[in-house]
Amino acid sequence: MRLEGKVALITGAAHGMGAEDARLFAREGAKVAIADIREEDARKVEAEIAEAGGEAMVIMLDVSKEDQWEQAVAAVVSKFGKLDILVNNAGISGSGESDSSSTNAWDRLIDINAKSVFLGMKHAIPEMEKIGGGAIVNISSISGLVGQESIHPGYNASKGAVRLVTKAAAVQHAKSGIRVNSVHPGMLPPMLTSFQRGDPNREAMNANVPMGREGEPIEVANAVLFLASDEASYITGTELVVDGGFTAK
Ligand SMILES: NC(=O)c1ccc[n+]([C@@H]2O[C@H](COP(=O)([O-])OP(=O)(O)OC[C@H]3O[C@@H](n4cnc5c(N)ncnc54)[C@H](O)[C@@H]3O)[C@@H](O)[C@H]2O)c1
Repeated sequence: MRLEGKVALITGAAHGMGAEDARLFAREGAKVAIADIREEDARKVEAEIAEAGGEAMVIMLDVSKEDQWEQAVAAVVSKFGKLDILVNNAGISGSGESDSSSTNAWDRLIDINAKSVFLGMKHAIPEMEKIGGGAIVNISSISGLVGQESIHPGYNASKGAVRLVTKAAAVQHAKSGIRVNSVHPGMLPPMLTSFQRGDPNREAMNANVPMGREGEPIEVANAVLFLASDEASYITGTELVVDGGFTAK
């Protein structure tokens, strides 16, 4: 098991790719903190992990709120004794916004998708320093690499910020044994807040995937697992694109 003895906090783990990360990390031996704003879904993931013989806890956390981050990190350390891994996965989409010039939407996207990553690292890193190291995986997107039609540009800005704050943190904390990398999923099952299947904008993007299909959440989770594990011991500040070739064109 690749994460035996590790403690991981995963945000946005009540649904979608974060839930897949949580299930995979638990199967690989990690104790997992499922941090989200959706309590009922988070409890379901916790129960699935327990049924499979793993160990998990639920933390109510709005990732855009600094006081809640302080409490969340303290709760993990209090229950599991330490924090080795942080996966900053929670996010909202830019495609659910009907007005792509909305300033409120810009603020929301930056707060929930980008400021959250800064806050998570700010409060997790001191705990990792106490144990001599750790691994952080920040979930960006193909939208952090290229522009797109028909989504709010605040989404691209937020995911581009995730990409570069990852590199800054990697450089600043390398000597403390903390590795920081980003993962950039492409067309995965729709987010709760995005265009849904059948939407012409989404289908147009799907048609651009060289592999000719959507990715599966486990295909992203495997990339997150690799970067979080000791197998990636000399990898920091990198960006791992999981997009079926979308950005290779
Ligand atoms: N689905 C895709 O096609 C896709 C592609 C590229 C990148 N991503 C990114 O991957 C990550 C996961 O996406 P997903 O498809 O699993 O989305 P999802 O909508 O299925 O799940 C997102 C989770 O984040 C949680 N969340 C939202 N706002 C939050 C907040 N303020 N505080 C705490 N939790 C919050 C939600 O409750 C939900 O459980 C996101 O960062 C997203 O931007 C998704």
